[in-house]
Amino acid sequence: MARRRASQFLAGYCCSQSHSLVRRPPLCSQEPASISAPGLPHTHGKATSMFKPPSKLYRKLNSQTSCDIMQVHYSRTYGIHQRSFTSAAINIQRSPSFSKLNSDDIGYFKSMLGDKNVVQDEDRLSAANVDWMRKYKGSSQLLLLPRNTEEVSKILHHCNSRHLAIVPQGGNTGLVGGSVPVYDEVIISLASMDQIISLDKVNGILICEAGCILENLNSFLANEGFIMPLDLGAKGSCQIGGNVSTNAGGLHFIRYGSLHGNILGLEVVLADGTVLDMLGTLRKDNTGYDLKHLFIGSEGSLGIVTKVSILTPPKLLSTNLALLACKDFLSCQKLLLEAKRELGEAISAFEFMDSDAMDMVLAHMDGARNPFPSSSYNFYVLIETTGSDESYDKAKLEAFLLRSMEGGLISDGAIAQDINQASSFWQIREKLMFRKAMCWQGMSEATVKAGAVYKYDLSLPVEKLYDIVEEMRPRLGEKAKVVGYGHLGDGNLHLNIITKQYDNNILAQIEPFVYEWTSTHRGSISAEHGLGLMKADKIHYSKSPETVQLMASIKKLLDPSGILNPYKVLPQSMLQ
Ligand code: FAD
Ligand code: MLT
Ligand code: ZN
Repeated sequence: MARRRASQFLAGYCCSQSHSLVRRPPLCSQEPASISAPGLPHTHGKATSMFKPPSKLYRKLNSQTSCDIMQVHYSRTYGIHQRSFTSAAINIQRSPSFSKLNSDDIGYFKSMLGDKNVVQDEDRLSAANVDWMRKYKGSSQLLLLPRNTEEVSKILHHCNSRHLAIVPQGGNTGLVGGSVPVYDEVIISLASMDQIISLDKVNGILICEAGCILENLNSFLANEGFIMPLDLGAKGSCQIGGNVSTNAGGLHFIRYGSLHGNILGLEVVLADGTVLDMLGTLRKDNTGYDLKHLFIGSEGSLGIVTKVSILTPPKLLSTNLALLACKDFLSCQKLLLEAKRELGEAISAFEFMDSDAMDMVLAHMDGARNPFPSSSYNFYVLIETTGSDESYDKAKLEAFLLRSMEGGLISDGAIAQDINQASSFWQIREKLMFRKAMCWQGMSEATVKAGAVYKYDLSLPVEKLYDIVEEMRPRLGEKAKVVGYGHLGDGNLHLNIITKQYDNNILAQIEPFVYEWTSTHRGSISAEHGLGLMKADKIHYSKSPETVQLMASIKKLLDPSGILNPYKVLPQSMLQ
């Protein structure tokens, strides 16, 4: 049986494409080629994208304000603006130490930034006040659009002396409520700071402003023979400054590692307006404390990132992508270990999803096609390899997959034969995020209005990673759909719990259980999304009291008035 299936599998994939994958097809629907190769049944469908295709760019990367981006973003996804706002039991009082904005403040900002960069328009403000999940909503009356570091510095200097709280905002794709105000904080959008400053082609070092959109940077670099070392589903909207501030992980983490390794330098504006020039371009520099690391992942709570210096890997010519089916989680786990042994540094992504996640994509995503329509499997794995020798890379992956199939680790699989097929494989994975929201649309009107997703982003030892999904299911019973997917190669589970509505009784069954479980298994309650507002008071599940105390001291040292992104990252009680 194993041999028959193995030969079927071998026939099921053909030669890999000789150029790198372009993940993002045009926004309009298109018919990709069949994803089935000889030996596998054919399926047909459409691929869609929520984001704009990369714009033609050089120097001036994007002309939209963050509000424009948000409006496009929302209307093109799933019309969530119709949903009512619901917050998951977060009870925080506005800090009495903050002043209220007055007409003198507005006058000052207008004189410094010009009228059009001082946004008081209701529509634009309401978009910027709400997060991507439509879960957190602030009531800011002011959005500022500085055009350079000096303007950021003047804004912060003024806000600090007036005790006006602020929230830095990038692409507003954050998933933990960090990018939107809680009360009336002034929103400082980096969207107008989108210049590429330089690309050192000898060393592969890009220097740019913080408001550059990730996908635009990648398109710019692709023309120059480089790529960004990170890639995420939000690439069409998120900004490099937001990526740095959340220490975003994403799909290529397994290959290129953390931003702590790839960011060579930063320019940051502190709460009092001081500009900290740490915009180095060196790989090695052991002169004292490496302070840039404090700001990577600090979610706008210690300073505003205004410029970034980042190491960009060479763009390699051969990319292969396989979508595989596995019978159980243990097989996925063993496959990862074998892939690391046999494919080594060629692996550029190793993603997994369970059958509930796959079913959700297939049921609700426009044009999604089941790659293995004749059978259903419990788990699916995406393996991407990238190299410089097309025939060698292809042969290596094929041989590995064949061995894995013969050994019973893989039940079925297909290798993308061209860019369209690769794109449709990636769409399944990248659309998972959106699916949970779109499934509300597919349901009754009442459910659409009330639909809710509880998202958890956990780092766990790989062998334990799926246990929490299996424990959560009987705990919640019929009330919820529990799905698991994520960056298996990095030990990062995205546990998503979908219910008809936000409900404190359901929440009480999920939390603190999910955090306690993670802590008991020595995991992290935030692998890559950050703490934001959602988990600010949960930090102790992953950090010792002494560590949290030191973090609070650092926050007080850098931002004594606490104006930078208040109520986020650290428990409010520690900062008063
Ligand atoms: P925002 O959402 O605007 O802000 C995020 C935080 O950073 C906030 O606390 C904000 O105050 C702060 N901030 C933003 N810009 C600055 C700045 N210049 N200076 C100081 N602080 C700033 N995350 C992952 O790690 N991996 C993924 O694979 C991934 N996939 C995603 C897929 C989708 C579809 C979506 C919607 C989100 C995903 N995310 C992922 C979450 C998110 O963290 C990232 O999208 C991204 O890093 C956020 O960037 P942003 O510009 O949108 O930042
Ligand atoms: C992802 O990996 O798709 C993102 O981190 C977003 C999510 O949690 O779904
Ligand atoms: Zn992720």
